[in-house]
Amino acid sequence: MKFTKSLPLKGELTIPGDKSISHRAVMLGAISQGTTSVTNFLRGADCLSTISCFRKMGIAIEENPTEILIHGKGLHGLSAPETVLDVGNSGTTMRLLSGILAGQDFSSSLTGDASIRKRPMKRVITPLSLMGASIESIPGNGCAPLAIQGMPLTGIHYQSPVSSAQVKSCVLLAGLYADSTTKVTEPFVSRNHSELMLRSFGAEIQTEGTTVSVQPDPLLTGQKVEVPGDISSAAYFIAAGLLIPGSEILIKNVGINPTRDGILRVCRAMGADIEILNEQEHCGELTADLLVRHSALKGTVIEGGIIPTLIDELPVIAVMAAFAEGTTIIRDAQELKVKESNRLDIIVHHLKEMGADVTPAPDGMVIRGGKPLTGAVLDSHMDHRIAMSFAIAAMAGNGETEILNSDCVSISYPDFYADLRRLQS
Ligand code: S3P
Repeated sequence: MKFTKSLPLKGELTIPGDKSISHRAVMLGAISQGTTSVTNFLRGADCLSTISCFRKMGIAIEENPTEILIHGKGLHGLSAPETVLDVGNSGTTMRLLSGILAGQDFSSSLTGDASIRKRPMKRVITPLSLMGASIESIPGNGCAPLAIQGMPLTGIHYQSPVSSAQVKSCVLLAGLYADSTTKVTEPFVSRNHSELMLRSFGAEIQTEGTTVSVQPDPLLTGQKVEVPGDISSAAYFIAAGLLIPGSEILIKNVGINPTRDGILRVCRAMGADIEILNEQEHCGELTADLLVRHSALKGTVIEGGIIPTLIDELPVIAVMAAFAEGTTIIRDAQELKVKESNRLDIIVHHLKEMGADVTPAPDGMVIRGGKPLTGAVLDSHMDHRIAMSFAIAAMAGNGETEILNSDCVSISYPDFYADLRRLQS
């Protein structure tokens, strides 16, 4: 797909549902008693993979135009899948599902696309093995496909070396099937959607600093889940609104959970004009409308505890930094190397291709902003967040940019290009 300098973006936008919360609603709905209804469910490829995995384990899931209905069978109601569970491109599905499967009384195997089969699964194999699970990387390299023989598990206190909500959630979900309390401590707090949703479904969850604990064998009951708009998807429109002169966009119903709102804090530090309106709360999840106006941005430093709260937004934040006056330093972001692609390398490469002044670092990069960006041919490497971030860079820059493999936005935001076009007219 080709992009050139954009007209001002104007108008209102309701972005699709949060990917993390949509996955969790299906998973918790499946292992709860009764029906869970989910509105604003994200119909992206990743969340559809989660639905398909649970259908293969005997869970009836109805997809209506306005809601998803999951007919849960309780904590011990899943049945053995007859075929391998295919998670597609979804790391969240593979890692969280591993935690659930480890505690079942059947064996299963998990696979996915070429990207997921390269991503590290040792980070879940290690804690699950400590809980007594039988989980194995079939190729023996710590990657998928995974073979899991479900069995009763032991509660542990896991000190996670990474601040990862996927690891934390995997251990907490396995903890539902353990014989005693399960705890996870992480270096910095990662997104807490699992904790909030588990609590609203009836699990006993305690949080103290960077430690979360879960009690085993809860009575989980189906709930009504209203999925907030995904701040990670809103991020592209926040960036577009800030970078494209004359823009003013009202982005409605965006999840602003404090474990996800790092991009708003960074934008503020960069001098962005973003008004937070109409704040609301549902089951512990905060939402708001964001009024974004074109702003002159300045560089900033992004490091430490804020990193997990904006990890998926770093590609588009790096794009904003390239247009900002002054230097932006990103540190402590080595996790970007093991996302859907090696985002650290690809961001640096693509920004350089467009003419930006950027120096890579082992855990981030230094971007000296303000050089004009010009068109280039850029491969998304089938990474949805790379495709969307550089579409915005192209629309704020000069010349024509072609994004190769641009269709991968269907993973998290199928209507992304249509929504961009609509705001331009
Ligand atoms: C997610 C957690 C993050 C994030 C991913 C979704 C989740 O991954 O990058 O897009 O839903 O728990 P990590 O847990 O690997 O940081």
